[in-house]
Amino acid sequence: MAIQFHKLEVEKIIRRTKDAVSVFFKVPNETKELWNYKSGQYLTLKFDIYGNSERRAYSLSTSPIADTDFGVTVKEVDGGKVSSYINNTLKVGDIVDVMPPLGSFTTDLNSNNSPKYFMWAGGSGITPIISLIKSIEKVQQNSKIKLLYANQSVDSIIFKDELEELSNNENISITHILEKDNDDLADIIGRITPNICSEQIKKNPEFLNAEHFMCGPAGMMDQITEALNVLNISKNLIHKELFTASENQDKLISKDSANSEENAEPVKSEVTVMIYGEEHTITVEPDETILQAGIRQNLDPPFSCQIAACATCQAKVLDGKIEMEADDALTEDEIEDGYVLTCVSHPLTSTAKIDYDY
Ligand SMILES: Cc1cc2nc3c(=O)[nH]c(=O)nc-3n(C[C@H](O)[C@H](O)[C@H](O)COP(=O)(O)OP(=O)(O)OC[C@H]3O[C@@H](n4cnc5c(N)ncnc54)[C@H](O)[C@@H]3O)c2cc1C
Ligand code: FES
Repeated sequence: MAIQFHKLEVEKIIRRTKDAVSVFFKVPNETKELWNYKSGQYLTLKFDIYGNSERRAYSLSTSPIADTDFGVTVKEVDGGKVSSYINNTLKVGDIVDVMPPLGSFTTDLNSNNSPKYFMWAGGSGITPIISLIKSIEKVQQNSKIKLLYANQSVDSIIFKDELEELSNNENISITHILEKDNDDLADIIGRITPNICSEQIKKNPEFLNAEHFMCGPAGMMDQITEALNVLNISKNLIHKELFTASENQDKLISKDSANSEENAEPVKSEVTVMIYGEEHTITVEPDETILQAGIRQNLDPPFSCQIAACATCQAKVLDGKIEMEADDALTEDEIEDGYVLTCVSHPLTSTAKIDYDY
C-alpha cells in the first residue's frame, strides 16, 4: 500500500552546530510498529511554510539498536525553505506530518558476521552514516569500520563528540578532512579527490573488500566513485545516498512491460494508476512527469525529493513503456523488476498502467 503521512510531536531539539539541529519525535504506542526502521533509512517531513506545502526527506541519524530516541538531523542550506524552517522556527511540542521510514541505503546485520565497512561522509551526509556505524558497532562487534568525513572547518563537524566517543573503539577509525586548517583534528587539509580516496584505501589494504557507504554532496560522491572504479571495487559493494540531484540526470532509462508500442519521445498518455487500493485513470501530458500528473489530478501520490534521490515515489510498471530521466534511487534489481521513480517518469506509449501499492 502506498505510504501516507502521520502526525508526530516534536519531543526534543538539540543544536549540533551553528547551522544544524537534531529533531526527535515522540512515537505513539498505538502506531509504534509503523516507525520500525533500519539504520540508513529516512523520513519524509511535510510542513506548511508561508501557505505552501513543502516536503523533504531527512535520514534518521539515530540508531534503532543503539538509541531509544528517534530523530533526524538537519543542516541549514543557504536560502533553503525547509532546512531554515527546521533550524530556526520549529519548536518542541509542534506537530509534524511524517511519513514512516523508507530507503535502501542500509545493510542487514548479523552478529555471526564481521564484514569491514568503509564509510565516506561529507557535511550533513554523516546522518545515515552515524546511524549505520552505531548499529554495526552494537551488532557486529568484530566488524572493522573506517570513516572518512569531510567538512569545511572543525565548527561544521556534526556529531563531533559522538564520533570521538565511537573512535575509542579500536575497530572504528575516523579520518577528518577539513577544507580549512583551523584545528589539530584535521588529518587531511583540503577536499576529497580521487587521489586522496585511493590513497586511503591503499593505506588500509584490509579494506579492499569492504562494503562502501557514501553520502555527501554530489561532486564528492563522484570523486569517490571514480576512485573506487579505478580500484575495480565491485559495484555490489558500493552503496550511495544522494541528498541532491545527481549530475548525470540527462540520461533516459526506459522501463516497459512485455508488449508495448514504443515511441522515442514522451507522448500524451492515459495512465491507469493503482493507489491506496483503488484504480484511477489520469492523463499525463508529454511535458509533465507521472507524479506531477497524479498530483494535478488529486491522487495524493507519495513523494518526497522529486529529484530521483529518495524512491518515495516508486511504482511498478504493469503495462506500457515508461522512461525515467534518472534512476539513482533504484537498485539494479528494482530496475530489472520493472520499478520506476514516478517523479522523473514519462510514458512513451499512449496508455500505460502503474501500481504504487505493489
Ligand atoms: C534521501 C534523502 C535524505 C536526506 N537526508 C538529509 C539529512 O539527513 N539532513 C539534511 O540536512 N538534509 C538531508 N537531505 C536533503 C533535504 O531533503 C533537503 O533537500 C535540504 O534540507 C534542503 O531543503 P530546503 O527546503 O532547505 O532547500 P530548498 O528550498 O529546496 O533549496 C534551496 C537551495 O539549496 C539547494 N540545495 C538543496 N538541497 C541542498 C543540500 N542538501 N545541500 C546543498 N544545497 C542544497 C537547492 O538547489 C536550492 O538552490 C536528504 C535528501 C534526501 C533525498
Ligand atoms: S520523490 Fe524522491 S525519487 Fe521521486
